[in-house]
Amino acid sequence: PASRPLAGRTVVVSAGGTREPLDPVRFLGNRSSGKQGAAIARAALAAGATVRFVAAHLETPVPAGVEVRTASTALQLRDAVLSASDGADVLVMAAAVADFRPADYADAKIKKREDGQDPVITLVRNPDILAEAVARRTAEGAGTRLPALIVGFAAETGDATSSVLDHAARKLASKGCELLVVNQVGEDLVFGADSNDVTVLAADGSAPRTFSGTKDEVASGVVAVIAESLSR
Ligand code: C5P
Repeated sequence: PASRPLAGRTVVVSAGGTREPLDPVRFLGNRSSGKQGAAIARAALAAGATVRFVAAHLETPVPAGVEVRTASTALQLRDAVLSASDGADVLVMAAAVADFRPADYADAKIKKREDGQDPVITLVRNPDILAEAVARRTAEGAGTRLPALIVGFAAETGDATSSVLDHAARKLASKGCELLVVNQVGEDLVFGADSNDVTVLAADGSAPRTFSGTKDEVASGVVAVIAESLSR
């Protein structure tokens, strides 16, 4: 029925920010609250879906009614997302995944150096989970059945020469996912806020759709686009 357009579908939603440990007490993190991802999970539930919620670090409750899996680091999130995606219809990558992690993890708390030198932290790249999910889907002989509809997020700031949407359209093409939810990031405009303003770009050439309002209102719009895409 029209009110439950995702009935019978399984939707994986990742949300929150990863933490990349330096030592037992310190990490590199980010300001993601997980609120938009949690709102998408609630909207997908309301649309009738089974929701597998992969939670990184959240400043919002895990939505009632989801199957929850937790992950702290990008590497843990990658494993959780890829296994949760097996057999799912949709993957929504709303998590803020650290692009880099410390190259070394110190088993004991890093101490101030006796020679007075400042410490140096070397970073290495984390895998791009979204790009990997897309790549694995098309890889020959992949053991897992990854979702036909993969949705990425982009927080764009734009610059003088390229508009936010031009930049986002290139990101959509380079990531290879079906939909990209783009929001314009101001200083503390989006992170932790309860409202949002997004444009959903589609790889199939359908017209961009803009939604603004509370994160729940935006989530309903995004889930409606997901349902429409699945029915095409
Ligand atoms: O390239 P950028 O970080 O802007 O892309 C954001 C999108 O890619 C989000 O959907 C985010 O969840 C995903 N991502 C990822 N793995 C990373 C970095 C970002 O899946 N290492």
